[in-house]
Amino acid sequence: MRMYDIIVNKRDGKALSQEEIRFWIDGYTKGEIPDYQTAALLMAICLQGMTSQETAWLTMAMAASGETADLSSIPGVKVDKHSTGGVGDKTTLVVGPIAAACGVPVAKMSGRGLGHTGGTVDKLEAIPGFRTVLEPQEFLEIVKQEGIALIGQTGNLAPADKKIYALRDVTGTVESIPLIAASIMSKKLAAGADAIVLDVKTGSGAFMKTMEDAIALAREMVAIGVHSGRETVALITDMDLPLGNAIGNSLEVREAIETLQGKGPQDFTQLCLVLAANMLFVAQRGTMEQCMEQASQALYSGTALTKFKAMVQAQGGRPEPELLALSPCKKTVCAQRQGYITKMETRQCGIASVVLGAGRAKKEDPVDYGAGILLHVKPGDRVEAGQPLATLYAAGEHLLKQGAQLLEEAIEIGGQPQPPMPLIYARITKDGVERLG
Ligand code: URA
Repeated sequence: MRMYDIIVNKRDGKALSQEEIRFWIDGYTKGEIPDYQTAALLMAICLQGMTSQETAWLTMAMAASGETADLSSIPGVKVDKHSTGGVGDKTTLVVGPIAAACGVPVAKMSGRGLGHTGGTVDKLEAIPGFRTVLEPQEFLEIVKQEGIALIGQTGNLAPADKKIYALRDVTGTVESIPLIAASIMSKKLAAGADAIVLDVKTGSGAFMKTMEDAIALAREMVAIGVHSGRETVALITDMDLPLGNAIGNSLEVREAIETLQGKGPQDFTQLCLVLAANMLFVAQRGTMEQCMEQASQALYSGTALTKFKAMVQAQGGRPEPELLALSPCKKTVCAQRQGYITKMETRQCGIASVVLGAGRAKKEDPVDYGAGILLHVKPGDRVEAGQPLATLYAAGEHLLKQGAQLLEEAIEIGGQPQPPMPLIYARITKDGVERLG
């Protein structure tokens, strides 16, 4: 078998066989197939797609490319949660502690920023001293003791995804239903949780721009999860505007802490509660109403904040928000005219934050944890000319200038307010699609 023929088969629109997919994934993981051939195949998959069968084979091959975690020593139903990626999406930092505070163990592996979206591992590393790399034994011990541990994808868990993810980030091959489904589900299966809640984003800041694509991705992932014996639920949620007000690592951790103190932005708080309630639901903690009640109780009583602090300390970090340093250069973007905020091109807001230093342009680039954007307005708000729209943080004035220009172009001010968008559009289970929005 030759990698060249596999690329050509996919380029010409043929379905790949299980052997071809295994050959590629095994060879790439071992370093026998070079980046350039994998990049070519990824682009062919982006353009030609994959059948559900190919996607399932790809997921299994990637999940089997390394070790699988054994969480059986942790009592209870272990629940994982994963977002398909968005701008300002810091939900893991809040929903994990809520679920843990309700007695549901969270042993979660997270990813880094991808394209214009942020990643939980980069956010966690903004916390001084926080260790996102733990030996398996220590990881399990922290989950047993604190109810929650959050780490990066370890080198030996789905290593094929780790390599492919980094390559996709810089080759324009992120936006593909089969590649996203296989990437997420291979990690979820290898990470060993009993049940999975997926947050599938749709809108201008999501990889899935349309509802149809988001639902197709969610169905694909739920089918793979259920087929592998894991209770899996997906929510389709809005990413047509940034989530909360903070974009960028330190800013987002600060906002997550404010949310755990019960002072978070309304949209972000609501989404966290619904996701956490779904985690409790798949852990069989009661009806959806009862789970929502438990999640609210954990958030507003402060027990979730206590869990967050305990996890940060157990992983070597300092949980005080004032230690989350912001970059030294600062600029305020102001409204050019009066009116209503009618739109925020969310992908562009994400790109602006990457340009400021909060994300990577190349896979080896460092991240500036203190860089980012703090929004002062959201769609629907009335603004006067000269009113501050956002504050930007970066390490240098030239970065601020570029980021500010991108952000200004991303925010639209019109004469009439737009009706608010729903936050949650649908819930997908093995039984089908329930429309909510
Ligand atoms: N998140 C992932 O883990 N993988 C993707 O491909 C996209 C988002």
